[in-house]
Amino acid sequence: MSNPSILILPGDGIGQEVMAEVKKIISWYGDKRGLAFDVSEDLVGGAAYDVHGVPLADATMAKAQEVDAVLLGAVGGPKYDVLDFSVKPERGLLRLRKEMDLYANLRPAQCFDALADFSSLKKDVVAGLDIMIVRELTSGVYFGTPRGIFEENGERVGINTQRYTEAEVERVARSAFELAMRRNKKVCSMEKANVMESGILWREVVTRVGADYPEVELSHMYADNGAMQLVRWPKQFDVIVTDNLFGDILSDCAAMLTGSLGMLPSASLGAPMANGRPKAMYEPVHGSAPDIAGQGKANPIACILSFAMALRYSFDQGEEATRLEKAVEKVLADGVRTADLMGPEGGTPVSTAQMGDKIIEALDASL
Ligand code: NAI
Ligand code: MG
Repeated sequence: MSNPSILILPGDGIGQEVMAEVKKIISWYGDKRGLAFDVSEDLVGGAAYDVHGVPLADATMAKAQEVDAVLLGAVGGPKYDVLDFSVKPERGLLRLRKEMDLYANLRPAQCFDALADFSSLKKDVVAGLDIMIVRELTSGVYFGTPRGIFEENGERVGINTQRYTEAEVERVARSAFELAMRRNKKVCSMEKANVMESGILWREVVTRVGADYPEVELSHMYADNGAMQLVRWPKQFDVIVTDNLFGDILSDCAAMLTGSLGMLPSASLGAPMANGRPKAMYEPVHGSAPDIAGQGKANPIACILSFAMALRYSFDQGEEATRLEKAVEKVLADGVRTADLMGPEGGTPVSTAQMGDKIIEALDASL
């Protein structure tokens, strides 16, 4: 049987720097754990535009459809701000999500104890926090029609439409319940069924899917209350499932409970392929950070934890994923910090590459 395959798309700015550290870690798994991957690398975003005149070449798109997992760095940068909307770097990313039909966006909010002081909330509210937001990513108000700016009775009106089919709700709900079965068997679904028909349908369908998972405790919450509860006592949640718009906001809110943008991974999953693995793309939440690009200052942990998610969700290597997460935890507990993780007390930050090396040392020590 052939090795599982990974397509690496570093992209622009710090995307390339943080991905260099992930490549070291992929090699470590090959050398030390006998986990060999067929790794290929290609261009996305501005890097692809510079060569091909488009932010994602058709051949790269085709390759992404074939591999077991795509790892993406980040796209964009000031150099490309002048480009037409149709070829902007971000369009490369959107094309991948759309054509791979990655409908379930997994955004963990996990608080490493060593960074609990970084949260804007009290330490005991966030210490040990480990929740997962599942955001529907390919439908809802960002895609629904009619949409546009129209002229009506002599004034302009801007229109977007929240639209969900039962099938769209069902598949993302199923992702959330499957995830809950691997975690603490608890799902909270968030919508606004009190004021939105799409929310009523959402609640009905999630409840129906939940019946297939009798072990999972399902609750429902209006999304505005959900926002309050996330800030009040986030540890009451385990898996949260919600639509595209609410998920966009709630996942950013939950993520910031835990500190720096440089720490936040994500996974976007689609339907199972012939080999049973889901279509999948893993990427840090942050962008290309032009303000620090090329200076070796970027924190590679978000991208490294994204690879840990790939180990868990694409490659069925949950124990190895935990090993990598524990290595990150160890390095942070030892006080190793990139510049974005420095508190007011100061200290000397490590570089992107030094952080990667420290994590490899911790991996070695785990054997
Ligand atoms: P950004 O995430 O690139 O940066 C926001 C701030 O966080 C900056 O001060 C940056 O230095 C810092 N930061 C981000 N990641 C970091 C890391 N790993 N280590 C240390 N510090 C980090 O967002 P911004 O500035 O809004 O966008 C910059 C460019 O990135 C734009 O072209 C934007 O379109 C693009 N972008 C791309 C995304 C993607 O590829 N998924 C997501 C967000 C923005
Ligand atoms: Mg957002």
